[in-house]
Amino acid sequence: MSESRRYHVTTFGCQMNKADSERMAGILENMGMSWEEDPLQADLVLYNTCTIRDSAEQKVYSYLGKQAKRKQKNPNLTLVVAGCVAQQEGENLLRRVPELDLVMGPQHANQLESLLAQVAQGNQIVATEPVHIMEDITKPRRDSEVTAWVNVIYGCNERCTYCVVPGVRGLEQSRTPAAIRAEMVELAQQGYKEVTLLGQNIDAYGRDLPGITPEGRRENTLTDLLYFVHDVPGIERIRFATSHPRYFTERLVKACAELPKVCEHFHIPFQSGNNDILKAMGRGYTHEKYRRIIDTVRRYVPDASISADVIVAFPGETEAQFQDTLSVMEDIVFDMVNTAAYSPRPGTPAAEWANQLDETVKQDRLQRINHLVSQQAEVRSQRYQNRTETVLVEAINPRDPNQVMGRTRGNRLTFFTGDIEQLKGQIVPVHITETRAFSLTGSALQLATV
Ligand code: SAH
Ligand code: SF4
Ligand code: F3S
Repeated sequence: MSESRRYHVTTFGCQMNKADSERMAGILENMGMSWEEDPLQADLVLYNTCTIRDSAEQKVYSYLGKQAKRKQKNPNLTLVVAGCVAQQEGENLLRRVPELDLVMGPQHANQLESLLAQVAQGNQIVATEPVHIMEDITKPRRDSEVTAWVNVIYGCNERCTYCVVPGVRGLEQSRTPAAIRAEMVELAQQGYKEVTLLGQNIDAYGRDLPGITPEGRRENTLTDLLYFVHDVPGIERIRFATSHPRYFTERLVKACAELPKVCEHFHIPFQSGNNDILKAMGRGYTHEKYRRIIDTVRRYVPDASISADVIVAFPGETEAQFQDTLSVMEDIVFDMVNTAAYSPRPGTPAAEWANQLDETVKQDRLQRINHLVSQQAEVRSQRYQNRTETVLVEAINPRDPNQVMGRTRGNRLTFFTGDIEQLKGQIVPVHITETRAFSLTGSALQLATV
């Protein structure tokens, strides 16, 4: 490939995809290419795709249509579809968009260079077979200079009846604690202050690694990992996501309470507040168990922010069952909830069931739940009024160049007046003067020495 080639990556979907995109961009840079902001100007366009819901999948096809037209005029354009739609559709994608050069599943992200070498020989490539994910030696091109994603476990071994993730991300593969720590040490050396440890089901971390303690407990759990990495010098904050209630342990909460760098934020999806629906979803817990988990979190970490994911209008969900979901929310009062109407996905059991609900029911329940979500977020934000929160400054406020923005330990986006040149990467105590559902405004007290 010549030096002057310019690439563009568009990322859809979750944090896992964002992390994969940063690694793939790192590989492209390492090959001598440079970033192009405009996808319609780039010589190589990579769409890193998501298929969690139908709407996410359809977005990709509309983007691809435009690029296919470009390719007809410009045969030197390289078109790559990576990620979860690529994995799900495989060769179908080539039939649908014959202009594509490369279709590659998420497990192949680290292999981008060798796959492109095959494309350069004039082949159309589909790489979707399951593989053991190799440690990547190329440096990711990270979007932020302050906060970084660190994968700890790939894949998912659960079988939630609505979900495509196990099909597209494959079986769980944990990275070793040593590799994770080494990445964090390097990040700290580059000036990063915060890492988010990533896994679709992060509580499952280490299940595929060897090791049993003398007491007969599995070694290398997420809790052990937190103890193992928390003292990396320079890293000031550690977050992790996503926790599955089935595997969430009291030991993990204790570790979070004990380890000062682990932030007081728990993202624990509950999906439904009704036990029959939870059973049909194959989630492996009851709403009573979920509530006990939250009680445990609040016992050890009283001020913890708690967020979740919920699906409304799952097949067969009655109005009363939907009300059960609202009741769980009324009782817990969440800081944030990601909501979605159930979307039937190819290859998943629930998509085959006859008791699908109408679009009107879906939209009605979604609207009602979203109303409650923002109400609760607003109430939870209000507890910060007049408090001093430490904010890790990430960037300029895009809507006000005199302000910077960052997050509190509880993950609330916070704005305050300040100079980004001076404050980027600093942890600043901020007196909170205004609260909104999903963000805060305040004024800096003084610069912390970090
Ligand atoms: N591993 C995480 C979630 C991964 S997917 C967990 O187990 O909780 C992110 C969210 O997308 C899910 O929590 C769920 O709320 C939503 N989701 C997944 N499949 C969906 C579907 N078919 N329809 C609607 N929402 C879905
Ligand atoms: Fe999907 Fe369930 Fe795995 Fe989460 S735990 S990724 S919802 S199958
Ligand atoms: Fe989407 Fe794949 Fe993530 S389907 S949510 S990008 S694991």
